[in-house]
Amino acid sequence: MSRKCRPATDIDWRAPTRYNGVVNESGTTHRLLVRDAADLSPLPDRSVELVVTSPPYPMIAMWDDVFRADTFEGMHQELDPVWRECRRILRPGGFLCINIGDATRTVAGTFQLYPNHSRVIAACTAAGFQALPLIIWRKPTNAPNKFMGSGMLPSGAYVTLEHEYILIFRAGEKREFSAGGAGGAGGAGGGGSPGGGDPQRRRQSAIFQTERNQWFSDQWDFRGTRQALGEDRGRSRSGAFPPELPWRLIHMYSLQGDTVVDPFAGTGTTLAAAAAAGRNSVGVEIDGTLIEPIETTMAGAPEWGEWRRTQRLADQHRAVAAYRQRHGTDPAHRNSALEVPVISAQETELVIPRLAAIERVRVPLEGEHRWEATYGVPQGMLF
Ligand SMILES: C[S@@+](CC[C@H](N)C(=O)[O-])C[C@H]1O[C@@H](n2cnc3c(N)ncnc32)[C@H](O)[C@@H]1O
Repeated sequence: MSRKCRPATDIDWRAPTRYNGVVNESGTTHRLLVRDAADLSPLPDRSVELVVTSPPYPMIAMWDDVFRADTFEGMHQELDPVWRECRRILRPGGFLCINIGDATRTVAGTFQLYPNHSRVIAACTAAGFQALPLIIWRKPTNAPNKFMGSGMLPSGAYVTLEHEYILIFRAGEKREFSAGGAGGAGGAGGGGSPGGGDPQRRRQSAIFQTERNQWFSDQWDFRGTRQALGEDRGRSRSGAFPPELPWRLIHMYSLQGDTVVDPFAGTGTTLAAAAAAGRNSVGVEIDGTLIEPIETTMAGAPEWGEWRRTQRLADQHRAVAAYRQRHGTDPAHRNSALEVPVISAQETELVIPRLAAIERVRVPLEGEHRWEATYGVPQGMLF
């Protein structure tokens, strides 16, 4: 990822000593297919566990060129086949998470709202998904045209759109976790998954209770990300979301070793977040000029992953300190691999993958690019 590591936290936390961070001895695989996502035929039916994506937004000028149509309905009709393909490739109980914003625009002299999120909910429901409660992503803007309309005089001003949506859908009934299940192994991602069956992988993939409380809230507050694309690209801005967005969704809706797909991969943020989280991934992107930015994003994944892993541990130490202050004692449970107290028994087997390296591998298939990720303790990082 292109974002720089942020400074270390000021919290005094003890790094794990025994934990070797190996989530998956065979590593994970990350594929990028350069093609139109309306046809995902390289991915078999029911072969992936999660889709996390953000399409080009209908009625937002920067995306006009990617649509053949120039009406709200016409643009959505170009996205609809992608949602149907997502339904086909997701295994029962898999999830589809779509980040999308509404648009405001003046067409033929009339200014109005174009509610992209409700049109996408209608399309995904028609494609056979169950809509679940959604998340409002508050994304404050400092744009100079923030307050639009007649200034301080009633009644011609418009409310500023300072949020986007994260729509969440499930493909069929709840996922089953079988003792013999190997999850993502042999799935569309191509990587392996840790042994021990689904229930063990599920326990390994747990999140901390404080993360659960924050991430499963219906409002998220964090800033967007830098969107400049270098020269020689089809457009000047990427429309990228920050890695925190797919990072949370991947932990909320998939297991380590599962396969995550992004049909509108852009600069590859979802793929890199999946690698850092110990999942396989497949990205689909129609614009072949984005390969270079995607390479940069993938190359930055170990550094970003290490920063985020450290932050998770620091947040947990902070949560334990707060618990101690409230109750005068440590929480009753302990994650012995991470050497941290945890609030509930469900967190005792939680594993935080440590992405050691990510390497581009050559594949003889035209329009396909591939990376292999390995996990463990990078040299010089033993505590
Ligand atoms: C909002 S951007 C995604 C940004 C991405 N989340 C990131 O973090 O970089 C949408 C992407 O979809 C791509 N796209 C548009 N139409 C497509 C299609 N039919 N199939 C595949 N990709 C498409 C665009 O080129 C663009 O890169």
